[in-house]
Amino acid sequence: MKVRVAINGFGTIGKRVADAISLQKDMEVVGVTKTKPDFEAKLAVKRYKLYAAIPEKAEAFDKAGVPIEGTIDDLLEKVDIVVDCSPGKVGAENKPKYEKAGVKAIFQGGEKANVAEVSFNALANYDEARGKNFVRVVSCNTTGLVRLLYLVKENFGIRKVRAVMIRRVVDPKEDKKGLVNGIAPNPVAVPSHHGPDVQTVLPDVKIVTTAFKVPTTLMHVHSIMIELEKDAKAEDVLEVLEGEPRILLISEEDGFTSTAKVIEFAREFRKRYDLFENVVWRESISVVDGELYVTQAIHQEAIVVPENVDAIRAMFELADKEESMKVTNETLEIGKLKL
Ligand SMILES: NC(=O)c1ccc[n+]([C@@H]2O[C@H](COP(=O)([O-])OP(=O)(O)OC[C@H]3O[C@@H](n4cnc5c(N)ncnc54)[C@H](OP(=O)(O)O)[C@@H]3O)[C@@H](O)[C@H]2O)c1
Repeated sequence: MKVRVAINGFGTIGKRVADAISLQKDMEVVGVTKTKPDFEAKLAVKRYKLYAAIPEKAEAFDKAGVPIEGTIDDLLEKVDIVVDCSPGKVGAENKPKYEKAGVKAIFQGGEKANVAEVSFNALANYDEARGKNFVRVVSCNTTGLVRLLYLVKENFGIRKVRAVMIRRVVDPKEDKKGLVNGIAPNPVAVPSHHGPDVQTVLPDVKIVTTAFKVPTTLMHVHSIMIELEKDAKAEDVLEVLEGEPRILLISEEDGFTSTAKVIEFAREFRKRYDLFENVVWRESISVVDGELYVTQAIHQEAIVVPENVDAIRAMFELADKEESMKVTNETLEIGKLKL
C-alpha cells in the first residue's frame, strides 16, 4: 500500500517535494493546491491533480479555464498525510483543517516549532518522528547546520558552536522584495533565530548564530566555528564528511570560487539545479587550537526536500532511518555528484 499524500501549497518547496514523492515506490501524490490560477497552476495540472487551497477562491480557476478537482477539503478526504508547503505562518492557520480531517501533517521551517510534536532532521532525529501525527521539517539554514553539527557531534563531540549565516536575500522568482545594494545584518541583535532553531533538533548543542542578508538569490553560505571535545585533525573531519551522501565536498582547486560556480555545476546535473546536499569547501576544513572551521553553501530551495520524504516514512513507520535515507538518496541521486 502506498501512503497517499496531499501537497498544500505548490510553490518553491511544494513543487519540489511533490516531484520527489512521485519518485518513491511507497508513497504517491494524490493532489496539489494553489490559491490562484497563474502559470504555476497551469504547469501543475500537466503533472498533478489540482485543488483550490482556499475554497472561496475556487471560482477563479473555472473562470481562468484551469481545471481543478475540488478544494483542499475534498483533497484531505482522499489522503493519509498532507505536506503543508504554504507560506510561513500559514501552516499553523491550516492545522485545524488537518486535525478535523484526521490526517497527519508535515509543516515547514517557516512555522514555529510548537506547530508540531517534533522538529525533524533525518540524520539527527529520524526516530523521534516515528509514528507522530505532526512533524516540522526545520528550515533550510537549520537543516544545513544540523546535518553538519550532528556528524561532528557524533564523531568528535561539541563544546560550543559559533556560526555566521550569510543569507541569500530572496529566492530567484521573487520580484516584489529584495536587497539590491547593501549588506543587512538580519537580525541586527545577536543571536539570530538559527541557533535556537538548531536546538529544537539538537537540544544539547551550545550554539550562537549571527545572520546577514546579501544581494544574491542562489544559495546561503555558513561560516561555522566549532570547539571540539576530542582532539581531531582536519583529515579526520574530512573523512567523516566524505562518508555522508548528504554532504557534497567541493574544492577551490576545481574552480569552485563562489556559489555562482556551484550552481553552474549543478545546472549540468540536476532538474532546476537543485542541490539537496550541504556543499562544503574542502579547503575550508581546518582545526586551529581545538576549534574546527568549516564553510558550506546551502541551496535553500532544495535542501529540505529529502527530509520531507524521510519524515513521511518515519511518521508511517515504513522504514528505519538508514533504509529510508538510502532510498531517498538513490531516487534523488544524492551522493552521485562526487568529484
Ligand atoms: N524558499 C525557501 O528558501 C525555503 C526553504 C526552506 C523552507 N521554506 C519554508 O517552506 C514554506 C513554503 O515556502 P516557499 O518558499 O515554498 O513559499 P512559496 O514559494 O511562496 O509558495 C507558497 C505556496 O503556498 C500557496 N499558498 C498560499 N496561501 C496558502 C494557503 N492559505 N493554504 C495553502 N497554500 C497556500 C501558494 O499558492 P499561490 O501561489 O497560488 O498563492 C504557493 O503555491 C515556508 O514555511 C518557508 O519558510 C522555504
